[in-house]
Amino acid sequence: MENKKLRSSNWFGRQGKDGFIYRAWMKNQGIPGYEFNNKPIIGICNTWSELTPCNAHFRDLAESVKRGVLEAGGFPVEFPVMSLGETLMKPTAMLYRNLASMDVEESIRANPLDGVVLLCGCDKTTPALVMGACSVDIPAIVVSGGPMLTGRYKGNSIGTSDIWRFFSDLRGDLIKEEELLSIEASMCRSPGHCAVMGTASSMACMVESLGLSLPNNASIPAADSRRKVLAQLSGLRIVDMVKEDLKPSDILTRQAFENAIRVNAAIGGSTNFVIHLLAIAGRVGVPLNLNDFDRLSSGIPLIANLQPSGQYFMEDFYYAGGLQVVIKHLEQLLHKACITVNGKTIQQNYADATCYNTDVITTTGNPFNDLTGLAILSGNLCENGAVIKPSAASPHLMQHTGKAVVFDSIEDYHARIDSDDLEVDESSILVLKNVGPKGYPGMPEVGNMSLPKKLIQKGVKDMVRISDGRMSGTGFGTVVLHVSPEAATGNNFAVIRTGDLITLDVPNRLINVALSDEELADRKSKFIPPEPPVSRGYASLYADHVQQAHLGADMDFLRGRSGNKVTRDSH
Ligand code: FES
Ligand code: MG
Repeated sequence: MENKKLRSSNWFGRQGKDGFIYRAWMKNQGIPGYEFNNKPIIGICNTWSELTPCNAHFRDLAESVKRGVLEAGGFPVEFPVMSLGETLMKPTAMLYRNLASMDVEESIRANPLDGVVLLCGCDKTTPALVMGACSVDIPAIVVSGGPMLTGRYKGNSIGTSDIWRFFSDLRGDLIKEEELLSIEASMCRSPGHCAVMGTASSMACMVESLGLSLPNNASIPAADSRRKVLAQLSGLRIVDMVKEDLKPSDILTRQAFENAIRVNAAIGGSTNFVIHLLAIAGRVGVPLNLNDFDRLSSGIPLIANLQPSGQYFMEDFYYAGGLQVVIKHLEQLLHKACITVNGKTIQQNYADATCYNTDVITTTGNPFNDLTGLAILSGNLCENGAVIKPSAASPHLMQHTGKAVVFDSIEDYHARIDSDDLEVDESSILVLKNVGPKGYPGMPEVGNMSLPKKLIQKGVKDMVRISDGRMSGTGFGTVVLHVSPEAATGNNFAVIRTGDLITLDVPNRLINVALSDEELADRKSKFIPPEPPVSRGYASLYADHVQQAHLGADMDFLRGRSGNKVTRDSH
């Protein structure tokens, strides 16, 4: 260790005026001189914010990380980065994922850091921090905030996925507005992120299956004292990772990505997983495309019985043995030699995993659902693909032809969906345009739009819905998402009209509109691009540079790594 020159020595190990300046200001925090003597400087990258309720307990968690770093002889420095709260941010937290990733990347590179602990929780905070850290490529370990305890209402377990049901019931006059006030006070009753296998939990499972966190990171509830233990152990471990120079690029091989895709299928993970994993792969330069998701997840049955695809909650998942058990049960299908942050292989980490509840986690021989987690569709409606989650869809709609009812914007949808005059029945296909990355901008989670009130009252529970937007990882239904290229680009999806006949055929992975190439070409030649929704600032930069969904919706100028080179001096 003593012999190895740390990255941070380019600041704190300097002589003369520069070294004086680097150290003198840090000393206003009461730091003794010996701390600057070639100790690994560990950044704790914190997305704490009271505006991100899922991450509001992170100051506490950071303290546990610091204890571990100190114990291992490192020098912890906590720093804030932009936090992304899924519930409050308009027009969608997704618009800011790339911005937060840039904040993380530049904060790490510009500062005297040798390693970094990433505190991630609410949906977008995980991919943003991982993307940023991968772009710099210094040793990094993820500590997730953990899921909330299961919500409890009138003796029943409730969680985020139930919101769609509550509001469908309200639209059908099955429950009263007053009751919702009691429900909203019962659902989020502890620190942590959404308690189902939504996007946040899928992201926590993603980092664990990629090998970027210690085992058990995905499932320990935020309120469980073992979450703090994990944080402390992660702080302890990152110091050794610096000594070993174990970097994200050593862990994030093509095989690690393949493992993550298979695990996500087996847990019924979020459709947003596709977009975020593609973006991460783009940063580390691992070739990955949409078809990899279909090919690698086909034949992988659902073995975690968690909402929204199943019945249980993340708390149950942890008590049943957590992601370790899923990984062990998939062992034959995974690349066993992939290295993880603790220096062991994924197989070594999970060799002793035990299942304590077979209602929650089962085996591949006896799955909860034979349908794979995600299917990638192609056809003339989406030249670059689209995504559907069969395990959250209705079996009777998996092969379906119906007439399109087209909405040109989310405002158009809200204005007309409940109108008595809207010509729609349960065989219709609802199409929502201009909710893609450029068109919105930011690709909001509106793809699982509610059904027309008059059909809900008739007892209709599901219809085929298609959009260029996303869906909450907690959502469900026969919902085709991420249509690429999006409507705003003027490609085929842009020119679909009400009355066109659309065929969805999930077993054959097809989605087509019954229009000839000539008709499509003719309509496209008359396409008038919509006014750009924004004209200045970050949103405008985003709209100009964001890539389409099938490339992960990252900025074109952020693909690849810039590395951890120490740049020029500041004064
Ligand atoms: Fe933060 Fe669901 S709102 S994880
Ligand atoms: Mg979400």
